[in-house]
Amino acid sequence: MTTITRRTFLETAIALGASAAWGKSLPSRSKVPWHERRDYYREGVASGDPESDSVLLWTRRPPVAGDAVEKLKAEVAQDESFTQVVATVDAPVSAASDWTCRVLVGGLRPAHVYWYRFTDANGYGSRVGRTRTAPSDDDVQPVRFAFVSCQNANQGAQNAYRRMIFEDERAAEQEQLGFVLHLGDFIYEIVWYPEDRPQGMYDRRLRDIVRYEHGERIRDFHIPTDVGDYRAIYRNYLHDPDLQDARARWPFVCMWDNHEFSWMGWQSLQRFAGVDRAAQTRKVAANQAFFEYQPARLYKPSGASLDQFDPPRVVDVPITHFDEHGLGQEPNNLTAIHSLRGYRTLRWGRNVELIVTDQRSYRSEEPTYRAEAQQFMSDDFPALMPQEVLDILDAGSAYRNGHPPATIKYGGKDIPNFRRDQPPTNILGAEQKVWFFDRLKKSTATWKVWGDTVATLDMRADPQNLPNGLTKPWPGAGFAGFDASSGAGDHSTAYTERGEIYDFVRDHGITGFATIAGDRHSFWAGLAAKSLPPKPFEPVGIAFVTGSISAPGIIEAFEHVFPKDHPLRSLFVGQAPSDTTIQPLMNMLLRHGVRSCLEYVRSGDIPKARALSNPDLSPHLSFVDMGGHGYAVVRVSSDLFETEFVCIPRPIERSERPDGGPVRYRSRHRAKLWQREQTPKLETLIVEGDSKFSV
Ligand SMILES: [Fe+2]
Repeated sequence: MTTITRRTFLETAIALGASAAWGKSLPSRSKVPWHERRDYYREGVASGDPESDSVLLWTRRPPVAGDAVEKLKAEVAQDESFTQVVATVDAPVSAASDWTCRVLVGGLRPAHVYWYRFTDANGYGSRVGRTRTAPSDDDVQPVRFAFVSCQNANQGAQNAYRRMIFEDERAAEQEQLGFVLHLGDFIYEIVWYPEDRPQGMYDRRLRDIVRYEHGERIRDFHIPTDVGDYRAIYRNYLHDPDLQDARARWPFVCMWDNHEFSWMGWQSLQRFAGVDRAAQTRKVAANQAFFEYQPARLYKPSGASLDQFDPPRVVDVPITHFDEHGLGQEPNNLTAIHSLRGYRTLRWGRNVELIVTDQRSYRSEEPTYRAEAQQFMSDDFPALMPQEVLDILDAGSAYRNGHPPATIKYGGKDIPNFRRDQPPTNILGAEQKVWFFDRLKKSTATWKVWGDTVATLDMRADPQNLPNGLTKPWPGAGFAGFDASSGAGDHSTAYTERGEIYDFVRDHGITGFATIAGDRHSFWAGLAAKSLPPKPFEPVGIAFVTGSISAPGIIEAFEHVFPKDHPLRSLFVGQAPSDTTIQPLMNMLLRHGVRSCLEYVRSGDIPKARALSNPDLSPHLSFVDMGGHGYAVVRVSSDLFETEFVCIPRPIERSERPDGGPVRYRSRHRAKLWQREQTPKLETLIVEGDSKFSV
């Protein structure tokens, strides 16, 4: 059980840049003349990062018709009608934090539902929010939470949240979600204005959600350039009714992925059209807006201000010198990426330690984004790169214990190895990795849940098994992986770092290791292994990836952009003679291989197609759906880890139904806790609907 004194609690609140309220033991009726005026609090309310005795609360109260207030009264109660108020505090709001307000409430009871609201001096009140504290560290009760990622309000609807709310409201109290883990792409900073792209995006119409005051236009889209622009995109996302209701119902644990800063961004660099550009000021602006709009326990070294970010001053200077971990040593880069620390752990009872990491701020350059990497790609094999090439590019100078080849074979040619003098891909960065290993080793929770914003599960195909004559010979030596622009470029192709992490788990006898991720816009369930056949396959944990809430996935993109007459199109988006619509064959390609896909396209016979499965392709995978959207729910107990994927139809328009629209399928993936020396196993059950290409 966490015991915290009022004094250490106040120190914590100051460190988090939040006002502090301490719960009282005798609840009393509210004396605040609150009447709800949502028009004064258009971004709603939120709570975040619950611990067993405290939680952060959030709202925004900007001036309305010139009527600015300097403080808000925050109240926390045990009931929705505020007859049992346990904490009240005055919290400042000002232009310096874009009128957002953060309050840390302590002295609360563990595993308890609370209600909260904000009221200004006029009695104008926010909507009422609901939150829930974490169970105490010794509580053995099962923990339930959802994990989500990738909501795109410019291109889609947030029906997944409506479905999640609908089901949670109807669940027994002990079955309700304790929190929602958001693994990034909470916003998409790249915005298409509808007039710039009248044809829309794939199946989607473009919504006019924001106009950046100082935005920069690149090709046909717009990006934010300063903190005002980043704040504007958060505000407009929060006007979405489904997202806003979700934030008002559960505490969120939020971690940024790439789009909170920049699409192909890494450290404080942006990359457009293959060119890196210094963007230290934008990285700080992105961090500032994240800090202001997400109630999260983040550390900012800029000072212990109660109500504002205090951005460090940086200038946009080219970054030319990188250290042995690939970290840019330019001082403004270091200041910018350290202006907000997002990685952290949170604990839910005896069973769950959630370790959340940052995959963007410290990472080295993605090798497959380099122009030279194009030499290993071919229009004859869209999206596919030989795995042995990915392996050499990832390891750089460390390949084969420091003996990287000078050239790499591709299609009979010897191409210079442009990575031979560079360090292996490093996604976590040296400092965070030390912290991560320390947390993994010291965790006393049954399940060590790694909230990695990017996926860890290998994504590969077997073009070496294509029949002669269908297309040109495969230029690789064996299996194919995918480059970063086709969905990888994550922990699945950072082989060296992933191997280091999984070896650490194995060598320290860590059991109950589970990875949950987003970013890929697709559902994946499988086993965490550092290598696949023909190398040894030795799982050390379980791993899951959630589909996007609403951002388009690769199947939708391929339906539109994969050349119609390409000989390999049907491996990705194909159909059997009896099908009336295009099917997500890419799922079968990743799970079973090319022979299964070609059989399906010929006969439409799924069992016959699966019978041709390549057993060496994906022994790690139980389930993959590159076309699904929705969310994942995790139920964790002392001996079981179960992830349920709730897949909804492509969220092109908002559903007006109270349940957010139908469910396409619901799949459950369950692992029993394994002991040292045992191999984790995953069982898959489709409990509703159909996902025949995914299993
Ligand atoms: Fe995304």
